[in-house]
Amino acid sequence: MIISLLGFMGSGKSSIGRRLAKELGWPCIDLDDYIVEKEKMEINAIFREYGEEYFRELETKHLKSIVESAHDIILALGGGAPCTKENWNYLEKTRSVYLKRSEEYLFDNLKEKKAKRPLIKEMNDDQLRELIATKLAEREGFYNQAEFVIDITLSKRMTAETIAMCCGAESLL
Ligand code: S3P
Repeated sequence: MIISLLGFMGSGKSSIGRRLAKELGWPCIDLDDYIVEKEKMEINAIFREYGEEYFRELETKHLKSIVESAHDIILALGGGAPCTKENWNYLEKTRSVYLKRSEEYLFDNLKEKKAKRPLIKEMNDDQLRELIATKLAEREGFYNQAEFVIDITLSKRMTAETIAMCCGAESLL
């Protein structure tokens, strides 16, 4: 089984993913880290040198290869990865979980963590709030295709256990 975690930047996919992986004794693959490792380039550098469209092609290519080859992993996706029809061909083979957060939560979480995120790294607070509102509205339809939506804020441990139970992996806890 692959449990995929999706949601907006700053929703906690990577940290919940690591926690869930630890609870289940499975590896956690973070799609952005995987791309950096395979392409030997940071995400910021990929955007700067080749642009967003090229990054999205890489995202699709590596998502496909992970879904086709890995078993019993947690897969933490980048915020834009679930936002194409093509990528859902792969995500529908996983147990997908949307970590749904309010705009305020995302803003508070992202405002100190912009540097590694090319879409927001140069933004001031007003621009960041605006981007969250606009992109979330554009993307929510894709995020809501997930099999499960977690829309309450619990501790990391409780969130991880809730996801494991939803996905039928509670016997591993
Ligand atoms: C992006 C989110 C990032 C990363 C890239 C683009 C997006 O991942 O994939 O900067 O389009 O939302 P996180 O969601 O882990 O920040």
